[in-house]
Amino acid sequence: LIHLSVLFQPLLTLWTAWGHYDVCKSQIYTEEGLAWDYMACQPEATDMTKYLRVALDPPNITCGDPPETYCALENPYMCNNECDASTEELAHPPELMFDFEGRNPTTFWQSTSWKKYPKPLQVNITLSWNKTIELTDDIVLTFESGRPEQMVLEKSLDYGQTWTPYQFYATDCLDAFTMEPKTVNDLTQRTLLDIICTEDYSRGYVWKNDKTVRFEIKDRFALFAGPRLHNMASLYGQLDTTKNLRDFFTITDLRIRLLKPATGATTVDENNLSRYFYAISDIKVQGRCKCNLHANSCVFDKGKLGCECEHNTTGPDCSRCKRHYHGRAWSVGSYLPIPKGTANICNFGSSNDYLLSLFWCMSHITENQKCDYCLCRERDPITLKSLGKYYLFQDFTSATRVCDNAMLRCQNGGTCHHHQRCHCSPGFTGVLCERARCQGPGECDDQLCITCFLLLPICPRCGL
Ligand SMILES: *[C@@H]1O[C@H](CO)[C@@H](O)[C@H](O)[C@H]1NC(C)=O
Ligand SMILES: *[C@@H]1O[C@H](CO)[C@@H](O)[C@H](O)[C@H]1NC(C)=O
Ligand SMILES: *[C@@H]1O[C@H](CO)[C@@H](O)[C@H](O)[C@H]1NC(C)=O
Ligand SMILES: *[C@@H]1O[C@H](CO)[C@@H](O)[C@H](O)[C@H]1NC(C)=O
Ligand SMILES: *[C@@H]1O[C@H](CO)[C@@H](O)[C@H](O)[C@H]1NC(C)=O
Repeated sequence: LIHLSVLFQPLLTLWTAWGHYDVCKSQIYTEEGLAWDYMACQPEATDMTKYLRVALDPPNITCGDPPETYCALENPYMCNNECDASTEELAHPPELMFDFEGRNPTTFWQSTSWKKYPKPLQVNITLSWNKTIELTDDIVLTFESGRPEQMVLEKSLDYGQTWTPYQFYATDCLDAFTMEPKTVNDLTQRTLLDIICTEDYSRGYVWKNDKTVRFEIKDRFALFAGPRLHNMASLYGQLDTTKNLRDFFTITDLRIRLLKPATGATTVDENNLSRYFYAISDIKVQGRCKCNLHANSCVFDKGKLGCECEHNTTGPDCSRCKRHYHGRAWSVGSYLPIPKGTANICNFGSSNDYLLSLFWCMSHITENQKCDYCLCRERDPITLKSLGKYYLFQDFTSATRVCDNAMLRCQNGGTCHHHQRCHCSPGFTGVLCERARCQGPGECDDQLCITCFLLLPICPRCGL
């Protein structure tokens, strides 16, 4: 074993020197014997389109039901393209955006044509991973039709609940989005996170040979890492210290909003609306699972991506410490120092921070500025569900951030006693003396007592 690790050491050094961060731990020989050395690690970047789910909106926007014929944009007399959803060779379902390229003729998704002109022909293509991923290379869309005259690329970081634009695309940015046209080359380190509108990828008709629309990740990386990304250390250093920057390249979903198809001319030929449609032959999304530098592999199991967490972390993104490993608060690994980074492993034990995080503050009792208590609910460390136990914490505010709910005082004539708890008037009980004592057994079941505890008016006679 010792010999093996000695043999492996130079190899490991070589790999990590390239900034791959592909090893989470290695065995080293110390004076006390064999020990583990832990390093920041991340999965390899890969083709992420293998793991996504695609949704179209409107759902019935794919061509072929009923069958249609299409004309070439350049030549309205060439109308020999047929789309028929019920014939495999003539169908153009969304999956064809993600299949193997290099076939001839190419396979592609195609929308219905702009039959309802002048009502806009708009399509949302939403790609969902149900997992946070980090982009590592340009997003590239290849159009089989002319490239759209207006489109927006959007991203979500919260599984599709909220969306923000990544980049606007138009033949005329001012006209379409009232934005000054820019290119990625106009960006600097300081403006890297700016959302721009670009006219570089929308001249579908004139520049027939260029069919791609890009979101330039590598050019943005290059602002820190240099033109050929030779200084990745600089980029990793920045990613480590700037959360906004890291989040910028992190997504759970992408949305391509196609707003206006290529028309190739200033006016739309209303006699030949079969010339206008969207068709996409390929979408490239290169990235890696976000594992907070605590895993070097990510598996696709039962339709779901998940990190294979090391360093005694757990969760789909390794964003928690494993049960019994709360010796110190969880923390993301660090790319620094280059090349091995810092693992920030979870240690065996329980930390104060961890214990406090298990309590969920519900209210805050103050009397004469001197009786500061927090009524807290204990929750399960893993599921975060309430365990139905309640505690009082003195000076909770000063210890943590959690106790900021509504201020409450002792009620029904109760007084703050010994700066510890409410001292209730006869006939009342509860932490805040909010309840009358039970007059006899069987008046409240446990369930109601809890309700009563939380919502006084519902069960006024419930007592402990
Ligand atoms: C596309 O998604 C946006 C939000 O990202 C929504 O406002 C819009 O209505 C959607 N358009 C279509 C055609 O579904
Ligand atoms: C899609 O479905 C909607 C609602 O069912 C309908 O109004 C619309 O005409 C359909 N569009 C196409 C292209 O079939
Ligand atoms: C997303 O993943 C979670 C588990 O992390 C799972 O419970 C949920 O059903 C998944 N959602 C979809 C739409 O697959
Ligand atoms: C397109 O326009 C040309 C000339 O106006 C006409 O001959 C042709 O039939 C039209 N094609 C379709 C599909 O309507
Ligand atoms: C995690 O805990 C197990 C059990 O104590 C231990 O064997 C393992 O080495 C730990 N891993 C790390 C990375 O700390």
